[in-house]
Parts: sequence; structure tokens; C-alpha cells
Amino acid sequence: MAGRAVPLGLRRDLAALVDAVPLDFGGGSSLCKALVLADLIIANDLERVLEIGVYHGRLLLPLGFLMTALERGEAVGIDPYTAAAAVQSDAHDRGVDLTAWPAQVDWEGLHSEVLAAIETHAIGERCRVVRARSDEAAADFASGSIDLLHVDGNHDAASVARDVELYLSKVSPGGFIVMDDASWSSVRPTCERLATEHELVFQLFDGGVTVDGVGGNDFAVFRISEPASRGVRR
Ligand SMILES: C[S@@+](CC[C@H](N)C(=O)[O-])C[C@H]1O[C@@H](n2cnc3c(N)ncnc32)[C@H](O)[C@@H]1O
Repeated sequence: MAGRAVPLGLRRDLAALVDAVPLDFGGGSSLCKALVLADLIIANDLERVLEIGVYHGRLLLPLGFLMTALERGEAVGIDPYTAAAAVQSDAHDRGVDLTAWPAQVDWEGLHSEVLAAIETHAIGERCRVVRARSDEAAADFASGSIDLLHVDGNHDAASVARDVELYLSKVSPGGFIVMDDASWSSVRPTCERLATEHELVFQLFDGGVTVDGVGGNDFAVFRISEPASRGVRR
């Protein structure tokens, strides 16, 4: 595929796909984020994308579609789809009790919906969901085998820190870690720790102020340094 960015036709396909996936209180990628990561994948010849926390699939599905169009690599999502895993007990100040909200969600239905979308878009050869918690699935991924990791599972501080602790070594040197909701007080400490050894390439926070009032952007992108240069503050 010519060029170092997503071609216009594919950009339109990705936009239509993201638009068709529900966005609700449980969260979901903006179109902007999906396109930024798609450009990152093309510009850096990335092959294997791993997402912790899939939910409706607003990021996994477009990235699976992209890998299918590129005819390389894969997009893998990890999500247990259980109320227990989605309980968040830190003070997140989201206006809703995040310890009670997960019990109201149809997790089986969500899981089936994402599997059905993978089939509908015919992207199953390069897009799959591992139904497990991130800590349970970690052993399935070899060291340096992931080119882009999206951390968007349980947002409690201990869970975010654990996800990065478990998966950092699995990201190839020169690969990327994308931290969702990087401005949250529970996510920021892990981002600050990452920034001591890895380059913060890009950060976008719009406070949820969008043209249509839907969604918003809050994420940070880190480039993972070679082991030899770790410990050097950039
Ligand atoms: C904010 S949603 C993910 C949104 C999705 N990344 C997107 O951009 O559209 C968070 C998801 O994390 C999942 N989750 C919670 N704990 C998890 C864990 N330990 N491992 C993997 N996923 C987890 C929840 O089930 C939920 O579906």
C-alpha cells in the first residue's frame, strides 16, 4: 500500500465502521483516536496490535479492519466481559457509581455483538478476542511480540499499573503503548512512570468538548525505548 498514512478511501471506511459501533457510558474510542492509531500503524509498519479492554469494539474493529486491508499482522483484544472485572473502586468522579454500574451491563450480549461484528466485516483472519482478564492472558504473549499496546481495561490505579507491569516487556523496542484516559488521577502515575524511560510521543486531552458532544479524546502515546537506553530520561 503506497504512502505512510491511511489512504482516503480506507479512512472513510474506518469512519463508517467506528460510527456504526455504539458509544455509551462504558466508554469507547473516538474516530480521531482510531485514525491516529491507524496512521501510527502504517507510518511505522506495525504488525501486531493488542488491546486490553475491548467493550463494544470501537477501536478493535477498525484496527482489525485496517490489518485486513493491509494484509498483514493482527489486532487482538483481551476482555473478560464480566461484571466482576469491570468493578472500579477508586474515586473516579464519573458521576456514576462504578462499583454498581457493571452489574447492569449485558456482558454476554456485548461479547456476542463484537464476535458478530468481526464476522460481518469478514475480518476474522486478522482480528480476534481473547475472553479473559489481562493478567490471565499475559502468558499467551511472548516478549517483544506486540508492536502497539492499548491499555484501556479496568481504570483503577492498581489495575493500570499491573497491566503495564505485565505487558511492557511484551512490546517490541520501538513499539508503542497507548494509555487511555491518561489524564485520570488513577492512570496518570503509570504514565509518569512510563515517561521516565520512554518517549512521550503524543498526548491529546480535549476534556470531552467535541463538536457533536459525543465522546472525546484523552490518551497518551509512548514509544518504547531499546532496553540499553532505558533509565535515560528524555
Ligand atoms: C473503557 S472499556 C474499553 C473501550 C475500548 N477500548 C474502546 O476503545 O472502544 C473497558 C473494558 O475493559 C474491560 N476490562 C475490565 N477489566 C479488565 C481486565 N482485567 N482485562 C481486560 N479487560 C478488562 C471491561 O470489561 C470493559 O469492556
